[in-house]
Amino acid sequence: MKITVVGGGFVGSTTAQRLAEKNLGDVVLHDIVEGMPQGKALDMMQSACLEGFDSLVTGTNDPADYKDSDIVVITSGLARQPGMSRDDLLVKNAEIVGGVAENVKKYAPGAIVIVVSNPLDVMTYLVGAKTGFPKNRVMGMAGVLDSARFRCFIAMELGVSHQDVDAMVLGGHGDDMVPLARYSTVSGISIETLISKERIDAMVTRTRNGGAEIVKLLQKGSAYYAPSAAVAQMVQSIVRDEKRILPVAAWCTGQYGITDQFVGVPVVLGKTGIEKIVELPLTDDELVALKASASHVEGSVTKLNL
Ligand code: LAC
Repeated sequence: MKITVVGGGFVGSTTAQRLAEKNLGDVVLHDIVEGMPQGKALDMMQSACLEGFDSLVTGTNDPADYKDSDIVVITSGLARQPGMSRDDLLVKNAEIVGGVAENVKKYAPGAIVIVVSNPLDVMTYLVGAKTGFPKNRVMGMAGVLDSARFRCFIAMELGVSHQDVDAMVLGGHGDDMVPLARYSTVSGISIETLISKERIDAMVTRTRNGGAEIVKLLQKGSAYYAPSAAVAQMVQSIVRDEKRILPVAAWCTGQYGITDQFVGVPVVLGKTGIEKIVELPLTDDELVALKASASHVEGSVTKLNL
């Protein structure tokens, strides 16, 4: 497997490291800054004997090196600064990510593409449009991260193992994402029987603001440990054909009443990419929240003037 990570910033380089350490394939790290991806790749290679991986990591400034990639992860673009919403990044990142998409189309026409740049759902739409790839091969990483944040808060609230907590967050990767408490469990037990409604509501709000909470603490840039771990889980499900059910920004064709749009929904992720969108029964309130989130994304997509 050849996996290209575009963008050598914190998210991109941490993703490259996680992919290599999991032996998921050979990794190409691309950035426009001369020397930086090469330096980071060399540094990672020098950890191979210590961490025990055989993945080959190379750095490049040349998009021609995307050639024959099986998977391309796009992390390029600006990260949020304190006080910014993800939408504030739209114009600048559309320029950057649009250029990357054209290179991916040219050099890696058979690749499965995972978009990480923000605003996530809109950038995924842009990559879908610019590459023209079949929609099962284009997706955005956000639901896995948002669900991981919700899971983390649930585990911390109850003082139980993070491994026993499952949670599902749907919708766009924005302030109106939809954490589904009803489908969140600890060892199969619904959190609604374990935690008060008031505390669940507080965790839902904290999940929605999960990215902003970290931006505010860091003061410079945004999160990257959990985002890169979320990408690695998606890549692993594809490379090993695990067919995990994970929430990702996927092209909806009527599922949940959403049409011709990328939005976070549960999918089966395997070697061909998105193999199926899973339609969970939702209550009216949950469906209204999901549609509101989708229409927010749609509003931002129209600003791209594609
Ligand atoms: C976050 C950014 C990566 O949620 O969107 O941390």
